[in-house]
Amino acid sequence: GEDTAILWEGEPGDTRELSYRELHEEVCRFSQALLDLGVEKGDRVTLYLPMVPELPVAMLACARIGAIHNVVFAGFSPQALAHRMEDAGSRVLVTCDGYHRRGRIIQQKQRADEGIQLVQATTVEHVLVVPRLDRPREETPLAPERDHWLDQLLPEAVPDVPPEPMDAEDVLFMMYTSGTTGKPKGIVHTTAGYLTGVLATATWVLDLKPGDTYWCMADIGWITGHSYIVYGPLMLGAQVVLYEGAPDHPSHERPWEIIERYGVDIFYTAPTAIRAFMSQGREHAQAHDLSSLRLLGTVGEPINPEAWMWYHETIGQGRCPIVDTWWQTETGMMMLTPLPGISETVPGSAVRPFPGIQAQVLDQEGEPVPPGTGGRLALTRPWPAMLRTIWQDEERYVSTYWSTWDEATYDAGDAARIDPDGYFWIQGRLDDVLNVAGHRLGTMEIESAIVGHPQTAEAAVVGAPHDIKGQIPVAFVILEQGAEPTEELRQALMERVSKEISPIAVPGAVLFTEELPKTRSGKIMRRLLKDIVAGRELGDTTTLGNPEVATAVQEAWRAAKPA
Ligand code: PRX
Repeated sequence: GEDTAILWEGEPGDTRELSYRELHEEVCRFSQALLDLGVEKGDRVTLYLPMVPELPVAMLACARIGAIHNVVFAGFSPQALAHRMEDAGSRVLVTCDGYHRRGRIIQQKQRADEGIQLVQATTVEHVLVVPRLDRPREETPLAPERDHWLDQLLPEAVPDVPPEPMDAEDVLFMMYTSGTTGKPKGIVHTTAGYLTGVLATATWVLDLKPGDTYWCMADIGWITGHSYIVYGPLMLGAQVVLYEGAPDHPSHERPWEIIERYGVDIFYTAPTAIRAFMSQGREHAQAHDLSSLRLLGTVGEPINPEAWMWYHETIGQGRCPIVDTWWQTETGMMMLTPLPGISETVPGSAVRPFPGIQAQVLDQEGEPVPPGTGGRLALTRPWPAMLRTIWQDEERYVSTYWSTWDEATYDAGDAARIDPDGYFWIQGRLDDVLNVAGHRLGTMEIESAIVGHPQTAEAAVVGAPHDIKGQIPVAFVILEQGAEPTEELRQALMERVSKEISPIAVPGAVLFTEELPKTRSGKIMRRLLKDIVAGRELGDTTTLGNPEVATAVQEAWRAAKPA
């Protein structure tokens, strides 16, 4: 109990430390507060919190009483929050007054209020507000009855809150992620399979042992943070570093200062972050003692061999194995990965399926493709840590994941190949999902934000390759008759995307075109747009109803191409 559980650092440099005993006490107090508000097993609680200790505390409090937590990444817009609260039918929302990001204060409570207002028939009965900022309480308006300061609800004495007995298949949490439609889907995870899988992988892949100091740079608002900041490491008794702010604030040295200050043993981050570090230069890392590190991990997108080598040499100083872990919100745990100390790694490959997992690269008919040939990545047998359904949309669950081949073969939506040594190489998404700086975004969500503007008639969003972010969204927009393609309108469309989804979804370029390449049946040919923004030879254009448009769009892209 006296071992350290959480080592928290705020962006301004303030710190908090929680031992396992203190964490348990905080979780019990939070659980009691939820019980006092009438929250019951199976109720949904939405958490719209940044990286503060109250976020893992709130998640674990929900888990303790059997409530289903639904964490919404704090950087998502009020509108995105509204959709997720409404779809989940949340009874309680937990947020904070505000938080620090790149030296600015983000007014989170205000954003949460905007979100609640956007929900038509709100089910939210209570809003709990964590006082994160050092400012007078009056500066955060509270709605009477509905809103409560968290610290005023928490019991002073630590109550004895026995954990709710849970069936293996009871829901532990839900989390929204993007898919091919305009609406994000609520991925549902259950208790025993998820926790066992996360525990096993945190042990074997992250090599976590009690007392190890571990830092994952992801946000708890994504699945990586759920599985490998909160559940896995805390089940194993690790010391978990939690950092509130931006990695480049106040300088590019921040991540390396943190590793040095806490003596981090194991570091887990995304390729996009590594590419950003590369572009900043080696000197920032070299100014710090990184000798405590013994293992490095990456997740979220394919890592280019150059970034892998840089990570290995500059951060791992040639000493630390790198685990490139492939998995998804849906799989809950790592699925393809090297095992440190066992696997021979190859830069850019996620190596092999974790013991027990069966994966294959299949063609349309469900036949394994020959070595070295591209195909669709499939998990050929369901696994207990995987999602059970999409919240209130069983049909979409079955059609998205279990209908491409047969009902026991999971379609991951990724392109991949297996090399002659049996190593897996992930090539990226096959569906209309983008991976922008490690963030999963649906092109349809961005399109619907754009066409929501009265002056736009049609929009197509595709991903263009980007050196640091991996991909950036590019929007091709057809205007309504009479609308002028002005810079002002371009800005207004970007603003809409930022407001409806998040600043991370804002297109790197918005191109106004007269027409879009379409098939004879009138469907936009996205494949062609993808070729254009990737600077590739245009593939087969014989099915185009309007072949001349391809060249016009290509020229528009060349003229507008963002840096
Ligand atoms: O395309 C794959 C990519 O990220 C997608 C899943 O995104 P999300 O559900 O947000 O989860 C990210 C964190 C687990 C996958 O379909 N992806 C994830 N890890 C890798 C990867 N692509 C290549 N290599 C990886 N290691």
